[in-house]
Amino acid sequence: MSLLSLSEAELRARTSMKWRTYPEDVLPLFVAEMDVLPPRPVVDAVTAAMEIGDTGYPHGTAYAEAYADMAERRWGWRPAPGQMRRAGDVMNAILGLLLGNTSPGDRIVINPPVYPPFWQVIQGYGRRISQVPLTAAGRLDLEGLAAEFAGENKPAAYLLCSPHNPTGTVHTPEELSEVAALCTAYDVVLIVDEIHAVLIDPGTTFTPILSLPRAQNAVVAFSAGKGWNLAAFKGGLYIAGRDAPAVNHLPPLANQSTGQMATLAHTAALAHGQEWVDQVMVEVSANKDLLGRLLAQRLPQVRWQREPGTYLAWLDCSALGLENPARHFLDHAKVALNDGATFGAVYGQFVRINLAANPDLIDRAITRMADSL
Ligand SMILES: Cc1ncc(COP(=O)(O)O)c(C=O)c1O
Repeated sequence: MSLLSLSEAELRARTSMKWRTYPEDVLPLFVAEMDVLPPRPVVDAVTAAMEIGDTGYPHGTAYAEAYADMAERRWGWRPAPGQMRRAGDVMNAILGLLLGNTSPGDRIVINPPVYPPFWQVIQGYGRRISQVPLTAAGRLDLEGLAAEFAGENKPAAYLLCSPHNPTGTVHTPEELSEVAALCTAYDVVLIVDEIHAVLIDPGTTFTPILSLPRAQNAVVAFSAGKGWNLAAFKGGLYIAGRDAPAVNHLPPLANQSTGQMATLAHTAALAHGQEWVDQVMVEVSANKDLLGRLLAQRLPQVRWQREPGTYLAWLDCSALGLENPARHFLDHAKVALNDGATFGAVYGQFVRINLAANPDLIDRAITRMADSL
């Protein structure tokens, strides 16, 4: 049975951001929520806890152990228990690492176009952004990073998104090793967001940075919230390399906000939801095929480079000659997409579309977009 098969009527009963931000005549394909039902073991774990009032504070290391089991099965690498700590969620883990390891005015490197909260977590806390954009081919610019690290404005930290949101780029082991070596050479704190780790097209490979011997200076922020669509349950993990003192410099209270329900839900997902997420990605991959066909038929001016990571697609609408493509499609096609400008000011001609949706919805959205031109 397919997972991305919920009807629009079923989805409109939801009260989350994706389904309530816009009126009912708008098809929402923006925020990274998936149009799926959760894996049964997650529902059972949460329900069982509610039934017995198991709604206090989390205890123990079950979440970390479930992550380690997954890492071993999926990637042939197992972090030791001492390498992992509970986190409130991924963005709070990143905030804690930045506050604990950098000072106001310090520079932090990011690779635009990149997830909007990366900009906010740096600028919102008095740090400064150094931009090393992805290359035209959508890859990490290793020469650009080396130049930035060696330059006058030496950064204190580098915030890497792996896999990359919004493009879906999956960094290679060689790229990741090189990045880690550069951070060691220039004494730059390496923070890696691996929240999209399991969202990978079938037949392609994701490399967790800490599985690489040369990358033990990295600290990873992970959460099952994205892979299993559990954003409602805030939780996550820090995973520190064997040579990553940054994780020892966290501000007070940084790890206290993980919820018991998140711990239970995420643990159940990691322990019993592996086939589920693989099935989601089989269907997302089919949706990427579908998007490619629909764009070729109906919006041939829109450019898209298919990448194996995430369920997001980053569409270059420059050739359409629109002042603001996201605004145009919302107003004239009634399709809600993410505005590229939120991923970096120069990307206003791009939109991000969420493909963790019923293929029928994607088909209707692209048709409406084409008709609006
Ligand atoms: C790259 C990336 N990091 C972090 C998050 C948010 O994670 P959390 O809710 O655990 O802070 C998202 C959500 O889409 C994301 O795409």
